[in-house]
Parts: sequence; structure tokens; C-alpha cells
Amino acid sequence: MKYKACLFDLDGVLVDTAVYHFQAWKILGKQFDFELSHQQNEELKGISRVESLEKILHWANFQATEKQKEAWLLEKNETYLKLISHMNPSEILPGVLPFLAQLKDQGYLIALGSASKNAKIILEKTGLITWFQAIIDGNSVSKSKPDPEVFQKGAEALGILAAECIVFEDAQAGIDAAKAGGMKVVGIGSSVVLHGADRIITSFTDIQATELLSL
Ligand code: BG6
Ligand code: MG
Repeated sequence: MKYKACLFDLDGVLVDTAVYHFQAWKILGKQFDFELSHQQNEELKGISRVESLEKILHWANFQATEKQKEAWLLEKNETYLKLISHMNPSEILPGVLPFLAQLKDQGYLIALGSASKNAKIILEKTGLITWFQAIIDGNSVSKSKPDPEVFQKGAEALGILAAECIVFEDAQAGIDAAKAGGMKVVGIGSSVVLHGADRIITSFTDIQATELLSL
């Protein structure tokens, strides 16, 4: 087979946690009178918690001490954990489960490549965890997307080459990471905001696993 594995981002690809990250940052922003816009939020997708706070403070033109930043990172995560505490399998995005089943039937390996340090909790709460042969998350990488590290580690964990992988991503940083790693990439979202993917779909209901061979 031309491709051996599919590497999935988590937030905004398998589950709609992107909205919870947005809400949690908006709540935090109130502390320094900052209103996060949807356009700015697009730039936070795929990047780490620490880098997200740095960007937000820059947009807010707010100088914070290291101690203050640490406290805010904790606070944002506490809000986020509350928002995701009730997550269950109903929050898996449309078409994801049938698509994973098709991949499994066709012999693809399946891995996660996420910047989130909360990835395992979400995979457990939604029951998605059983589909994955490898999980690379924010605890296993030292460089954030658009660096390809998270996907390279995914390929390595599966014992395959980058050229044998297809990445699924909703963030520009993630599409750039996959491309930098020499992988094919399917963007989930709108072609107005996502650039450089080999194909764009609006949801997994738009794609069949057999179509991956033409990427
Ligand atoms: C990415 C999200 O998957 O994970 C980002 O797209 C988020 O929005 C990042 O900031 C880090 O997540 P967490 O759960 O470790 O704060
Ligand atoms: Mg994402």
C-alpha cells in the first residue's frame, strides 16, 4: 500500500475541543481586558499552551511576570478541564468513527499527533483511545507545530517512513508541520483559512478511506 498510517490531530479534528480552548482563553483574557477574536483564535490552533499565552499577551500589549504567566497558564487549564469534564462519545465529530473503522478495515495504522497535554484524558472520555496504535501528545514533544517533531515521532513510534503517512489537521500550524515532515496532509475546515494541504474537507463525512490512495 502507498500509505501505511494516518496521523490525526485531536482538537478540532476528532473532537470539537477547539471551542473549549477558545472559551477558556476568552475567560482568562478578561483579567487583562482582552477580547480574543475568532481570527486571532485561528492562530492559536495547533500551538502549545505556553505559546498561545505569549501570543495573547502580545496582542493585548500586556507585560506579565514569569510568575503571573505561570499562574495564568494553570488557570486557563483549570477552566479548560472544567469545560471538558462532561465530554463523552457524543462529542466525537461527525463521520470520524466510520472513517476510523474504514481505515482499520483497510489495514492502516492509526496514531495521534497533538500539541495538547490533555489529549489522553479526552481520548479516554470519548472512548477514542482504543483506535490508536501510538499517541504522541504535548507531553512527548519539545517543539510545537509547525515543527514536524510531533508527526515524525508518530511515524517513528509506528516504525514507518514519513512518506507513508497521511496527516489530518484543522490548524495551519499543523498543515505546515506535516509538510515540513514530508507527509501528505488533509485539512479539515475551510480553504479560505487553510493553505498548502493536499486536500481540504469540511468534515469526515466528505471522505472515504479509499480516496486516500489518490493523494
Ligand atoms: C492544540 C490546540 O491541540 O493543543 C491548542 O489546538 C492548544 O489550541 C494546544 O492550546 C495545547 O493544549 P493543552 O490541552 O495542553 O492546553
Ligand atoms: Mg487542532
